[in-house]
Amino acid sequence: MDIEYRPFKTKQELYAFICDQLKLIADETNDITAILANVSALFMLEMQEVNWAGFYLYKSDKLILGPFQGKPAVAEIAIGDGVCGTAAQTLKTQLVEDVHNCCNHIACDMATSSEIVVPLLLSDGSLFGVIDIDSPLLSRFDDEDRIGLERAAKIISRIMEQI
Ligand code: SME
Repeated sequence: MDIEYRPFKTKQELYAFICDQLKLIADETNDITAILANVSALFMLEMQEVNWAGFYLYKSDKLILGPFQGKPAVAEIAIGDGVCGTAAQTLKTQLVEDVHNCCNHIACDMATSSEIVVPLLLSDGSLFGVIDIDSPLLSRFDDEDRIGLERAAKIISRIMEQI
């Protein structure tokens, strides 16, 4: 699939830019909501063919909707439910090429066809939350996105524990 990543030539360039921006966003405030709101806007602005980008945060043994861009979404997800709950349970990135063939997918926007969910892990290995990014294209996300977003997730997790 040929997706343009202008002004970026490659996904590596895109994620290098995103990771640099994360540090600038965090320098502005110590408020978790403000930082994650700006990060979700950054994902939405810079990633092509994305219809939802944001966070679910781990609280009281479930995932609670955090800052995001896109259509209103399910507010609470049990650990193990949906793609987000699976990422939270396994602590592993979930890359779903076709959500319609994924029985464990919670539909929030009928336009979504593919999805990537990356856990945010603190230094002690515990779960802070997940990044969830959805696309209207099938197979929008690949291993390069996984590597780039896992790098971003590490930076976001470090920022969260320094607050
Ligand atoms: N699709 C997710 C639910 C959240 S929405 O995509 C924003 C899931 O299956 O966990």
